[in-house]
Amino acid sequence: MSFTVAIDGPAAAGKGTISRAVAARFGFAHLDTGLLYRAVGRRMLAGEPPIAAAEALTPDDLADPDALRTAAVAEAASKVAVIPEVRAALLDFQRAFARRAGGAVLDGRDIGTVICPEAEVKLFVTASAEVRAERRLKELLAAGFETDLGTVLADVKSRDARDAERASAPMRAADDALTLDTSAMGVAEAVAAAVAAVEAARVG
Ligand code: CDP
Repeated sequence: MSFTVAIDGPAAAGKGTISRAVAARFGFAHLDTGLLYRAVGRRMLAGEPPIAAAEALTPDDLADPDALRTAAVAEAASKVAVIPEVRAALLDFQRAFARRAGGAVLDGRDIGTVICPEAEVKLFVTASAEVRAERRLKELLAAGFETDLGTVLADVKSRDARDAERASAPMRAADDALTLDTSAMGVAEAVAAAVAAVEAARVG
């Protein structure tokens, strides 16, 4: 039986941490859909046209997640993500993953609105831009990148604006999504809120 948890929200909101924890707790598979767009962005930075890159994507493109987590690749991802043909090329894979037997958690921008509007649980995870930039700064510094808060905050804001304002599958909360503002929440509290939402849907 399928059971889909859709987790959307802006850059560096903690979607990945919450998704991994929910997947582990319930034994569901997890797909970080941002990695698909990052992989297309990475191929574009290497000189490939984005639509051809999206159509040619293979699991090998996701084999080295660290190479996909750079600021330059994130920026390229949000540029290719505005192209409808790029999104279309990635659609079937995401839909099939969402409805796979045994349950799935997908995190991204349009999971509850476009990829899986029938998802049993929809969360929109957000936090203030400042809090998100601080979280992303810590991750980037821990991974050995040299950057600063001002740069990361500007990147996060410009990516959010591009993601929210694009015509094709813009980032937004589905009408029936539960919004989780994690600005003042620790990881444990945010995960507990997400787990409670899944448990309520499984019982209901
Ligand atoms: O990790 P972070 O939240 O910073 O970004 P991500 O989830 O890895 O996504 C990178 C970029 O891919 C986003 O800024 C979006 O432009 C795009 N994306 C998208 O358009 N749709 C998705 N379902 C997931 C990501």
